[in-house]
Amino acid sequence: MAKKKSREPSPPSAAAKDGAMTRDRLIELLNEDLAREFQAIIAYVVYSQVIKGAAYMAIAKELEVHAGEELSHALVIAKQIDYLGGQPTVQPKPVKTSDKAEAMLRFDLQNETDTIRAYRDRVRQCEELGEFAMAEHIREILMDEQEHQIDLATALSEDVPRT
Ligand SMILES: [Fe+2]
Ligand SMILES: [Fe+2]
Repeated sequence: MAKKKSREPSPPSAAAKDGAMTRDRLIELLNEDLAREFQAIIAYVVYSQVIKGAAYMAIAKELEVHAGEELSHALVIAKQIDYLGGQPTVQPKPVKTSDKAEAMLRFDLQNETDTIRAYRDRVRQCEELGEFAMAEHIREILMDEQEHQIDLATALSEDVPRT
């Protein structure tokens, strides 16, 4: 099946301007997002199974749902990297471990907060490059990440962190 690829280099005007977004820079940033999605998949798969204690059973089930959503995000991000002519990474960001349920939930909450911050930037950067459909895909992912953040903050009886 023919694949639509756009491999044109960034226009010189965009490249010349200091700090301007380019397609190559966007590929790098999306690869960081993909590494964060892989990290989230691993954390949710493992934490959902090892979290113990009656108080945490509901959130453990919820973490299983998150794992599946993170996988679908990883697929969307990998597709965007491929579309831009980049090579999707195979390396997750490191996953922390703990035998304490609360610590695991805190790691997840911190990661979701970092992820939300990154995707907000990414929406703006996609739009700066005229990649409006890509920005729309990332907005959809962002909605899921905000739900994840709320689930985790609620399970920890905390306010949702300001991002
Ligand atoms: Fe995600
Ligand atoms: Fe998430």
